[in-house]
Amino acid sequence: MTGISIWRCEMQKRRVAILISGRGSNMTALIEAAKAEDFPAQIVLVVSNIANAAGLAIAAKHGIETLTIESKPFGRDREAFERAMQSALAERNIELVCLAGFLRLLTPWFVQQWDKRMLNIHPALLPSYRGLHTHERALADGVKIHGATVHFVVPEMDSGPIVMQGAVAVRDDDTPDTLAARVLSVEHRIYPDALRLVAGGKTTLEGGHCRTDASGSPDDALISPSII
Ligand code: GAR
Repeated sequence: MTGISIWRCEMQKRRVAILISGRGSNMTALIEAAKAEDFPAQIVLVVSNIANAAGLAIAAKHGIETLTIESKPFGRDREAFERAMQSALAERNIELVCLAGFLRLLTPWFVQQWDKRMLNIHPALLPSYRGLHTHERALADGVKIHGATVHFVVPEMDSGPIVMQGAVAVRDDDTPDTLAARVLSVEHRIYPDALRLVAGGKTTLEGGHCRTDASGSPDDALISPSII
């Protein structure tokens, strides 16, 4: 037989859904990253709990299925809303869920369905500044380093094993908006990298900590302010 046989090793990509409530810039970063052939996950669904969230149109433009499951009509029955979401995820054989600006508290029931399979990004260096208004609070405290965290979701808000963090130097003239913008660009770097690790099976959860095959940072120290 002549000719060369080309063996293509088809990687089994993890099926990922992203849950959003708004503009979806982290969602977009994940979608873009997942286009790489060697990325171990594919984004197959974007769900918004808010009708007409800006991120929905962006996801659709990328050819990704979108779904709006409004939380408002369910009122206080958070589990009923989550059951609707859970069926949509199950129908599509979703394996991993990424929360990306999904501004709705999840019940322990839903979190349990996705135990060790759901990630969140939070705009602060956890465990500092859980909750809202992280940039305002960091500035009010006068911290010199701030950042963002990707972590596994557990029932307690903004807790759970940390997968990856990225830091920025805080400047004296920062406002919540300027700081938020620099943190956001770090978010766009760490969320795809964290998903790459988790979906690629390069993380292990041990005693409430997430260990990874990745090495430390090439720039080991971030000193702020710098006197040079
Ligand atoms: C991001 O900054 C994300 O870290 C934050 O909401 C923003 C969503 O922006 N999430 C939280 O505060 C959750 N606790 P995006 O829609 O452009 O990704």
